[in-house]
Amino acid sequence: MPASEAISPDMHHVGSLAEFELDVCKIVQVDGRDVGVIRTEQGVYAIANRCPHMGGGICYGTVTGLMTATSPENISYDETRKAMRCPWHGWEFFLNDGTAVGGITSRRLRRFPLHIIQDEVYVILRMPRPDQAETPRGDDG
Ligand code: FES
Repeated sequence: MPASEAISPDMHHVGSLAEFELDVCKIVQVDGRDVGVIRTEQGVYAIANRCPHMGGGICYGTVTGLMTATSPENISYDETRKAMRCPWHGWEFFLNDGTAVGGITSRRLRRFPLHIIQDEVYVILRMPRPDQAETPRGDDG
């Protein structure tokens, strides 16, 4: 798991585009946190390694397209609508906006801004001010 280099307090270099295999979530360390970086044909995304369902390591899951069915005989697969499938219970979240596939929850996958400058990938991770520090959440996530 490679560590990032910070080029500003919030902007972290996590590698070159070529280091990110298509449709695979690669976990990098950014300021001590696991961040999943995913390169797809549609774009490059950075996500938290924490599933909105029960906090599992969603970055160990798989990147998938969207499977829909209007009947058992009428199934389609949309390769352009990419989602991350959590390996724990199979919930899926769209990479482009973090919403849950099928609307099974209103919780969203946490995403981080990302910039690509001359084929180098930078994740923006703002450290919270001390007065904005997160408080631990209960088991219900
Ligand atoms: S923790 Fe990810 S689907 Fe349950």
